[in-house]
Amino acid sequence: MIIAIDGPAGAGKSSVARALARALGFAYLDTGAMYRCVALARLRDPAADPAGLEIELGDRVLLAGEDVGEAIRAPEVTEQASVVAADPAVRAALVERQRTLLSDGDWVAEGRDVGTVVAPQADLKVFLTATADERARRRAEQAGRDVASVLSEQRDRDARDSSRETSPLEVAADAHLLDTTGLTLSDVVDRIAALARDPADRAENRR
Ligand code: DC
Repeated sequence: MIIAIDGPAGAGKSSVARALARALGFAYLDTGAMYRCVALARLRDPAADPAGLEIELGDRVLLAGEDVGEAIRAPEVTEQASVVAADPAVRAALVERQRTLLSDGDWVAEGRDVGTVVAPQADLKVFLTATADERARRRAEQAGRDVASVLSEQRDRDARDSSRETSPLEVAADAHLLDTTGLTLSDVVDRIAALARDPADRAENRR
């Protein structure tokens, strides 16, 4: 079974997808971490070929054997990730890897285009949202930064992620829209787990 969790930055995708995978005993795929690895590699070497990079995702994120879990969360990598994500050659290389991983086993896969492009056949698609203020507040709290500057960067990134030509951030026609504003992590995980367990409910409650 594949559960696709898509949505904008700060909607709570990572926390939700990780906790959901643990609750269901599924593997977890953070597709954003792949774009971040390409961004880090490109910052180090602008000629880095995304198809040739050795990226391993699991308890740790490894780039050519180096633990880059922290480095890929740096603000300049976050910024660059949104730039490389608009490059069709990068997307093609990463989508192919993601499809290979998802071809076997049970997965919770998180990103922007999992339900629309990577795995349109996913058994359950959830599009998480939250108000822009709430998303910025969560990000600022995590990063120990002020909300106003996070909000302004988020606005630029949202605009770039939604307006790029290749795979812009879009809600799949058969996705369940879930606004996480004011909900706790366990509320959100419980709602999605209930949808995953009940196929009838799943079909009825689409957006
Ligand atoms: O989810 P994240 O913040 O780790 O994603 C990093 C960047 O990669 C962000 O700008 C959106 C982009 N991304 C994407 O375009 N497609 C995905 N499937 C995942 C992330």
